[in-house]
Amino acid sequence: MLYLADTANVEELKKLFYYFPIDGVTTNPTIIAQAGKPMSQILPGLIEIVGDKMLHVQMISNKAEDMLREAKAYKQKYALGDNYFAKIPVTEEGYKAMSMIKEAGIKVTATAIFTQQQALVAARAGADWVAPYVNRLDNISSHGIEVVGNIVENFEQYGLDTQVLAASFKTVDQVHRVSMMGSHAATINFEILERLRSHPMTDMSVEWFEKDAEGLYDIDF
Ligand code: G3P
Repeated sequence: MLYLADTANVEELKKLFYYFPIDGVTTNPTIIAQAGKPMSQILPGLIEIVGDKMLHVQMISNKAEDMLREAKAYKQKYALGDNYFAKIPVTEEGYKAMSMIKEAGIKVTATAIFTQQQALVAARAGADWVAPYVNRLDNISSHGIEVVGNIVENFEQYGLDTQVLAASFKTVDQVHRVSMMGSHAATINFEILERLRSHPMTDMSVEWFEKDAEGLYDIDF
C-alpha cells in the first residue's frame, strides 16, 4: 500500500519527506483552509517538496466544463507533469468532467466517495484513483473498511485499472484495516502517519541496544 500525506502544511511535509517513504500529497479545500493561505501561495511550496511523487489537487468548480478548465489551468500555470491528478468529487457534473479531463490528458482522482457503486461509476468514467472516505463513513454508523474492501474486490473482479486511495482516517487501526483489505494507497494526516510508524517498545529496544553496545562496537566510520 502506498502512503500519501493528506496535508498542505509545509513543515509537516518537510518532516515526512525527510524520513517516511511518502508517495504523494493530497489536498482539498478544507486542508487548504487549515493551511490558511491562498492556493497560489501554497502550491509552489508543495510542488517543490513533492518532486516527482503524486500531487492530487481538488477542483472546486461545479460545472464539468469549468472543472476541465480549472484542471488545465493548474497544469499550465505550474507546469505540472504526469504526477498531477485532478481531484473531482463524484457529483453528476463531476462524473461528466472525469472523462473530459482524461481526454485532455490529465489524470483523475474521484473523491468524496461513500459507496462502492460511486467508485465503480467513477472507474467507468475513467478515474485513475477513487478515494472512499473511511472515517466519515464510520461516523455515520456505516462501515468504511467494508466499503474499501468491496471496491478493491470489485475492481479486481472486473479487471479495472482504477486504484483505491482510501482517505479520511482518525485512527491507526482504520489504516491497518484498509491495508488488510488490499487498498492500493491511503492518504493520511500527519498525526496518524507519525503514530503508525512508531512504538514505545521500539524506542526502549534501541535504548537498551545502545547501552549494551557501549565499548564493544569499535569499527571506524
Ligand atoms: O482526503 C480526504 C480527507 O481529507 C477527508 O478527511 O478527516 O476530513 O474526514 P476528513
